[in-house]
Amino acid sequence: MKLKYKNTEVVICSSELKGSIETLFEHPKAVYLVDENVYDLYPDLYSQVVERIIKVKASESSKSLRNVEAIIETLIEKELDRSAFLVGVGGGVVCDLTGFVASIYKRGVKFALVPTTLLAQVDASIGGKNGVNAAHAKNMIGTIIQPEFIWINIRFLLSLSDQEFNSGLAEVVKHACIKSKAYFKFLEENIHSIKKRSLTQLEFIICQSVAIKSNVVESDEIESGPRKVLNFGHTYGHAIEVSTGIPHGYAVSLGMVLANEIGHAMFDLNEAVGTRVQRLLEAIELPVAIDHFNKEELIAAIYADKKRNGNVIDFVILKDIGSAQIQKIDLCALK
Ligand SMILES: NC(=O)c1ccc[n+]([C@@H]2O[C@H](COP(=O)([O-])OP(=O)(O)OC[C@H]3O[C@@H](n4cnc5c(N)ncnc54)[C@H](O)[C@@H]3O)[C@@H](O)[C@H]2O)c1
Repeated sequence: MKLKYKNTEVVICSSELKGSIETLFEHPKAVYLVDENVYDLYPDLYSQVVERIIKVKASESSKSLRNVEAIIETLIEKELDRSAFLVGVGGGVVCDLTGFVASIYKRGVKFALVPTTLLAQVDASIGGKNGVNAAHAKNMIGTIIQPEFIWINIRFLLSLSDQEFNSGLAEVVKHACIKSKAYFKFLEENIHSIKKRSLTQLEFIICQSVAIKSNVVESDEIESGPRKVLNFGHTYGHAIEVSTGIPHGYAVSLGMVLANEIGHAMFDLNEAVGTRVQRLLEAIELPVAIDHFNKEELIAAIYADKKRNGNVIDFVILKDIGSAQIQKIDLCALK
């Protein structure tokens, strides 16, 4: 399947992972930023372009200004001018890093993404947000710039660990929660074959999620309004991720449960909606137990959120499955 948003072409496929990655881009000056684990898992893909590979350590610590500078030094050594083309191959870490480096190297060069985790395929590669972390705050430094091309090959997902796969499914559940009752029902009815990584089911959910996210981005690239709904589960999610170090999707799962609790307590969200979302997250084997989190500590972490405006935060609440709204909430009301 092919789709286009802004000026970005997205290809979703499940073709065999063989041949050189170079044939996808046909750009003589393409330089590939490749997650080190993905490099080791799929060496044949890069055998023709070894001298144009920059390996990226598979860790959140790679998203730092120091690493950005090191990559830029390498690009300068390779004498790459403004016609250079960067290709990021890996999970969300590599996608975020590649987009950011491409947006600032020589005041901006073109780039493409080959997301290889489920989280990156349905979320991090789509929408143009990129960035690196400040010392104590995630994603504080970044830009919004769309890639030329995103190549999503579902076969990469077959080598993912269960933890990384489940983490990506949290974002899939989020997309259904905020935009589509039918998609949510599909997930409920097919979660067992999705967990077994049926290529047909995976292709369906990736197409659905990419379509939902790219439609939202098309309507509000810079997150001045409607794009904020994509933050469902992320206000508490980011706070939990930073304070516990658990994978992004695991934290978002807990963040969605907490958001539904607030929706129920403050905005008349039907309790049955929260129960349904929680059951689906449990079926995926994502964490849902929120009782042992210290709310005061989480709110302290939310104070560091870049989306905060004084004491007020735009908080995403479900109205129903498939429908979300943005509510301004005073952080004091969450205590
Ligand atoms: N820009 C955005 O819109 C956006 C959205 C969501 C998340 N993010 C960012 O994405 C990052 C998380 O992304 P992630 O969960 O993909 O993490 P990640 O990039 O760290 O990858 C997770 C692990 O999976 C491994 N891996 C990657 N592809 C693999 C494959 N095909 N087979 C086996 N192992 C593979 C990696 O080596 C790594 O160990 C965070 O930094 C988060 O802030 C960005």
